[in-house]
Amino acid sequence: MTTEILSVQNLKKIFSRDGQGDFVAVDGVSFDIAQGECLGLIGESGSGKSTVANMIARLLDPTEGQILLDGEDVTKADVRTVCRKVQMVFQSPQESFDPRRTLGDGIGESLLTAGQSAAEAREEVARLLEAVGLPPDFARRYPHEVSGGQCQRAAIARALAIEPKLLLCDEATSALDVTVQAEIVALLSHLMRGHGMACLFICHDIALAQGFCDRLLVMYHGKIVEEGTPDEVVQSPKQEYTKMLIDSVL
Ligand SMILES: Nc1ncnc2c1ncn2[C@@H]1O[C@H](COP(=O)(O)OP(=O)(O)OP(=O)(O)O)[C@@H](O)[C@H]1O
Ligand SMILES: [Mg+2]
Repeated sequence: MTTEILSVQNLKKIFSRDGQGDFVAVDGVSFDIAQGECLGLIGESGSGKSTVANMIARLLDPTEGQILLDGEDVTKADVRTVCRKVQMVFQSPQESFDPRRTLGDGIGESLLTAGQSAAEAREEVARLLEAVGLPPDFARRYPHEVSGGQCQRAAIARALAIEPKLLLCDEATSALDVTVQAEIVALLSHLMRGHGMACLFICHDIALAQGFCDRLLVMYHGKIVEEGTPDEVVQSPKQEYTKMLIDSVL
């Protein structure tokens, strides 16, 4: 029996830009994520990290390649099926919530869609808020009434509502100050252990990824140029590019 929750094979994305021809944003990327594993994906701006995550979440169609999620071909599955297994947390939590609806409504939406009654969903929202360290009355607040860190906790609660097997965090802590960043990473780590959930953790900060992830991938110009445990990648990088990335931040 395979322990992989995600298997990505030879993934490619070509964007056609008006008047500028084709642009290869992701160029033959392959990797696996095991159940419960946290895989860090790092690399400079424009290297293709978000494009990879967006294809896994079925927000974008790959030009080529295969994405098997829990044994199922993502590119052929319908969006709803994929959403039940993968959830994304983005950089700007305030923007990912509808400003006219309370956080409780946002978090509870998928529960109602899944057939829970309003009362059941309310109870579950309170439980999810507690799990991410927020008081129950935050369910009545609007996104602009909470801090960035609190809103990111609410976004994580919303992602957890459907108990995904894989959480895609695309720069989920990049907009937060260092203390709050550490709190969110600790929260993610705790939740992953509790739920046996896997995570693809995309970030610019190799030091942050080093402390949090089980394994790291480094992307450069659409390709994976390095792969290993955080210590292997940081202490003995094989590629010049990775050395530069490490020297610039550590
Ligand atoms: N819809 C699109 N159409 C055309 N080009 C795109 C599109 N989306 C992304 N790109 C290009 O693909 C490349 C990879 O973008 P991507 O967003 O995946 O990078 P990234 O590694 O996530 O960068 P960042 O760290 O800044 O978030 C970039 O050059 C970007 O301009
Ligand atoms: Mg990005």
